Amino acid sequence: MSETILITGASGQLGRIVLDQVLASGKVAPASVIAASRDPSKLAAYAEKGVQVRKVDFDDPAALPAAFAGADRILIVSTDALGEPGKRLAQHKAAVEAAASAGAKRILYTSMPQPDDSAVTFAGDHLGTENAIKATGLAYTIFRNGWYMENLFMALPHALQTGQWHSASGNGRIAHVARRDVGEAIAAGLLASDGESRTYTLTGAAARTTEEIAAAASRATGRPLRVVHVTDAELAGGLKAAGLPDFLVPTVVSFDTNTREGKIAMATGDVEALTGHKPTSLEDFLSENAQALQA
Ligand SMILES: NC(=O)c1ccc[n+]([C@@H]2O[C@H](COP(=O)([O-])OP(=O)(O)OC[C@H]3O[C@@H](n4cnc5c(N)ncnc54)[C@H](OP(=O)(O)O)[C@@H]3O)[C@@H](O)[C@H]2O)c1
Repeated sequence: MSETILITGASGQLGRIVLDQVLASGKVAPASVIAASRDPSKLAAYAEKGVQVRKVDFDDPAALPAAFAGADRILIVSTDALGEPGKRLAQHKAAVEAAASAGAKRILYTSMPQPDDSAVTFAGDHLGTENAIKATGLAYTIFRNGWYMENLFMALPHALQTGQWHSASGNGRIAHVARRDVGEAIAAGLLASDGESRTYTLTGAAARTTEEIAAAASRATGRPLRVVHVTDAELAGGLKAAGLPDFLVPTVVSFDTNTREGKIAMATGDVEALTGHKPTSLEDFLSENAQALQA
C-alpha cells in the first residue's frame, strides 16, 4: 500500500494491537506508519523499527493539523475521558476537524454498537463523533466495537470470590469480543483497499445472557456462581459501596440497562469478514484466563 496510516492512542491497549497488526501485515512499510500518542516516549521501540512517532493530544487542538500532516488514513481511537461531561466528544470533534484540514483521505473511528439507540450514558459521544466524521464528506470506516471480553474482569473476580454476581441485565444478551480480535479487525479495515465508506459492528460469535456467562465462568474455574438479579438502583448502591468513583456509577449501571433492554444483543460476522478467522469464543477466553479471574 502506498498510503500513509496514522493511529492515535497507539500506546493504549487497543491502539498497540492495531499498530502491531498493521506492521506484521507487511502491507505497509514502517516509514509509512505514524504511531501517535500523548506520550511518544511510550512508543520508542516503534521508532527504532522505523515507524514515525508523533505527539498527538486531542486536548491540544491547535497542534493537531501539523501532527496529522501527511497522513492519508487516520484512525481516531476513542479516548477514555469519561469524567467530565462533553469532554470526550469535544476531543473527538477536534481530531475529526484536524484530520479533514490536514488533508486525510479517510477517517476511521472506534465507536460502539448502535449509538443512535442506546441506554449507555456515553453513547452520544460516539454518535456525535460518527456524525462529525460523516459531515466532513470524506470516506470513512466506523468500527462499532462490541464490549470486550476483558470487561468481564470488572465483575467476575469479585463474583467468583463470593459466588454471587449482582446484575441488572435481566435476560439481556451480549456477544462479548476479545480485544485482540477487535484490534485485528480494525487493522484489516485500516489496510483495506476498497474506496467505500463502511460501518462494521465488531462482536463475538454468540450473544449470551448473564446467566449463560456465569455458567461458562463456573465451568472454566470450577467455582459455583449464581446470578442475583437486582434493580438499577440496587446495582448503583452496590457499586458505590464497593468504592467505584461516583462519576462512573451511572455509566456502569447504564451498561446493564442497555443489555436488559436488548440494545447490545447483536452478534455479527464482521470480525470474521475482516480477519478471515472466527472470533475467540467465550469458553476459550474464560479458560485461558481462569487463573487470573480468581486472583
Ligand atoms: N468496547 C469496549 O468494551 C471498550 C472498553 C473500554 C474502552 N473502550 C474504548 O476504546 C478505547 C480504546 O480502548 P483500550 O482498551 O485501548 O483503552 P486504553 O488502553 O485505556 O486506552 C485509552 C486510549 O485513549 C487515548 N487517549 C486518552 N486521552 C487522549 C487524548 N487527550 N488525546 C488522544 N488520545 C487520548 C490513549 O492514547 P495515548 O495514551 O497513547 O495518548 C489510549 O489509546 C478507549 O479509550 C475507550 O474509548 C471500549
